[in-house]
Amino acid sequence: MAVYSNTFTDQLAHYVRDRYNALNSCPGYTATNVVHAHGGITADLKLAGPACDVYGSDLKELKFNVEYQTQQRLHVQIYDKSERIYQVPEDVLPRPPSASLTAPDSDLQVSLVEAPFSFAIVRQSTGDVIFNTSAATLVFESEYWRLRTFLPASPNVYGLGEHTDPLRLPPLDTTRTLWARDAGGVPEGTNLYGSFPIYFENRIDQKAAHAVALFNSNGMDIKINHTAHDGQYLEYNVIGGIVDLYFLAGPSPVDVARQSSEILGLPAMQPYFGLGLHQCKYGMPNVFHVAEVVANYSKAGIPLETMWSDIDYMERFKVFTLDPGNYPLQKMRELIDSLHQRGMHYVVMIDPAVAYQDYETFNRGDADNVFLRYQNGSIYQGVVWPGRTVFPDWFASKTQQWWTREFAEFFDASHGVDIDALWIDMNEPSNFCPYPCDDPDGFLKGDGSWINPWPPEPIPHSPRRLPGFPDDFQPPHIGMSQYPLQATDTRLKKGLRGRNLIDPPYHINHAAGLLSSSTINTDLIHANGLAELDTHNIYGMMMAIASRKAMLSRRPSLRPLVVTRSTFLGAGTHVAHWLGDNLSTWHHYATSIRHMLQFTAFFQIPMVGPDVCGFSDDATELLCARWARLGAFYPFFRNHNAADSIDQEFYRWPLVAESARKGINLRYRLLDYLYTALHHQSVDGTPALFPLWMAYPDDPTTAAIDLQFFYGPALLVSPVVEEGSTDVTIYLPDDIYYDLETLAPVSKTGTNITLRDVDFTEIPVHIRGSNIIPLRVDSANTTKELRKLDFELIIAPGYDGRATGSLYLDDGESLRQEATSEVHFEYDGKILAMSGDFGFNTRGLFHPRSTITQQIANVTLKLSYATPFVYKRYKLHLPSNRHDPVVN
Ligand code: GLC
Repeated sequence: MAVYSNTFTDQLAHYVRDRYNALNSCPGYTATNVVHAHGGITADLKLAGPACDVYGSDLKELKFNVEYQTQQRLHVQIYDKSERIYQVPEDVLPRPPSASLTAPDSDLQVSLVEAPFSFAIVRQSTGDVIFNTSAATLVFESEYWRLRTFLPASPNVYGLGEHTDPLRLPPLDTTRTLWARDAGGVPEGTNLYGSFPIYFENRIDQKAAHAVALFNSNGMDIKINHTAHDGQYLEYNVIGGIVDLYFLAGPSPVDVARQSSEILGLPAMQPYFGLGLHQCKYGMPNVFHVAEVVANYSKAGIPLETMWSDIDYMERFKVFTLDPGNYPLQKMRELIDSLHQRGMHYVVMIDPAVAYQDYETFNRGDADNVFLRYQNGSIYQGVVWPGRTVFPDWFASKTQQWWTREFAEFFDASHGVDIDALWIDMNEPSNFCPYPCDDPDGFLKGDGSWINPWPPEPIPHSPRRLPGFPDDFQPPHIGMSQYPLQATDTRLKKGLRGRNLIDPPYHINHAAGLLSSSTINTDLIHANGLAELDTHNIYGMMMAIASRKAMLSRRPSLRPLVVTRSTFLGAGTHVAHWLGDNLSTWHHYATSIRHMLQFTAFFQIPMVGPDVCGFSDDATELLCARWARLGAFYPFFRNHNAADSIDQEFYRWPLVAESARKGINLRYRLLDYLYTALHHQSVDGTPALFPLWMAYPDDPTTAAIDLQFFYGPALLVSPVVEEGSTDVTIYLPDDIYYDLETLAPVSKTGTNITLRDVDFTEIPVHIRGSNIIPLRVDSANTTKELRKLDFELIIAPGYDGRATGSLYLDDGESLRQEATSEVHFEYDGKILAMSGDFGFNTRGLFHPRSTITQQIANVTLKLSYATPFVYKRYKLHLPSNRHDPVVN
């Protein structure tokens, strides 16, 4: 929110450049006491010359530690000898089990150069060097560290999000800044809501991919660049924490993804209903309007699964309150009951910031001492939707207890707002009040940066002095001032170990300027002594963990669907993610694909999607028609937009309504195919949605494609992306592909093809040969109804005439399933065999019986087990293909 003058930004840029160049004088380190022990290497690192002290003071002594953890995973750490530097807490990001391997068994080997110290990671099988820090001297200072590795020319590097940049990161002048930010408009080239210091690299000439993950939550710039002097490199510039790297050997891209799930955790399986269509809008005036939207969907014949309420339902945007006039409890309960009776669901938003007002949630939190405090002990205050707000300290001992109690109270099924899932937002955390925010009320009264939504008299319950609170509860009042560039301000907190917690000397490229800008002050110290400067990037993740626990305490046996804005490494084990405040533009419609694929394929957060039809600005009929079809291929499919944008529910334009009906129809028929892919990811990390290069890593044409994607193993989605166009040029890799609509084989693959006259209600989808796709025989109004329908199969043989597929079934909602079934289909050109582990399911879905063989249509369907009774019908579509199947 802070606005900086050009002079300020220019000065900042110069300052950054000068200091950065000074790093050339840094002496590096010398390794001594190098011990190659069972399972790893240890060494002492000593500063090799006079300190350069560019960003703080050089650490004189470091430790270097290598662990060969599995055949394909290596862990490397460089840290301070005294082990006092912050590391990401294990309860936020648990560590994979450590050493169990001896060095020679590992695919990745570490070679170490003692002076000047550097290390390289070599793939044993090929001799390829995948990481080599001799690219620059190691710099490790009190407020900064730098590590650089060489990359091959024209590298294929992916990840390092959250971002909206091209999926394959540009090799020149790329800086990926990681510092969680309320990033309205999701601009390219900037830091967004979440932080994922992990990259995947595909080396086509080596026929091998790998990944490198940095377990570090501090702010950082990761630069990818090429210069004549330095060659091609990737460089970490990090303002705290330690060097804490995991190397994953692959070698296939899917292997790498699976290995990443071993260190990031397996994604939580989401409830089946979460895959239905969601509708939301910020600025719904009252509960009657919400009900009207539901009714309109029904009238338009567009199946709506879940209705959402943004902060509108709250009384003056205070969390855990209801607006008694517009969203009275009685009517809310009637609405929710009627949704539930129709098999539909309801979700509301909760923000972390709590209004600094005399009301239960604040008072109870205050009594439990859960809010962040200034170093002088008074409660820190910022400004979010309700005006003056305070922020939970997720590290405080009673925060979880307080949060869970607020949930239990407000969302109680018997007397409260009985939600089925939860939406958490603003958890970077976002703060509208510019640093230093000494005078939140002054800011609220209007410097133009934030429009107070409560005319005419702002925040009547929030006077400057809170009555009944002692002096040290009142905020310090030292007036608003623009924060100066140089660190001369006496108010700067030097904080822990002499670090500047507000303005560390290395300035990462945070799009909002100062680190504390658009968020809470980075010199706040959490209850456990950790500085916000170090833990900022995990604030949202901690809220997610606390919220999942709170949801579980309400409904212990059900999978909680929690959709969050700010994420960090490992977040997929707890939550789903929506992609924040995009725009209703053709560009954002197209970039939503790359934004989404990062999460599904590289960050292990498969339940993800953007605001369909766009959040800010006004959608148009054509854009929304296309987006409704594409949206039906996002794992998380929600139409949502801003209060000041036109209404964009799918029924508002005839073309959009038609497109949505078709989209949902196909989505629902394929829902169990998606569910199966999501299940597989939750079991071994195999991405449910992924870019083309992960399926065809040796085909260089796929490397940069980010406007097409695989939806599960078998379907390639290739939307029209140009504004107003009905043509699209797509790439089909050299393989057998069939048109999903006609089941006809595509005559030419391995090349670009242009599809013409693609109606605005259509989206090109192709089946990759060798796959069997289970579909429900029809669509339905709700996922509950859908689950009662039978299946049919599409068999799409590969070059060899064979195909395989699978279908995972469970009850769709239980956290711990009593019994599940996974059916494997195998077609050998003649016979379709169906086998599987049909567990006994209390809901009566499956009965294990003896093997039977059944003649269906023109193929033999061989069943290892009896058909479950829900399988009343089998229809088998056999697409014609180059190798006509031999039919019995
Ligand atoms: C944030 C969210 C957006 C929401 C709004 C109001 O901007 O990203 O989705 O509508 O806040 O709560």
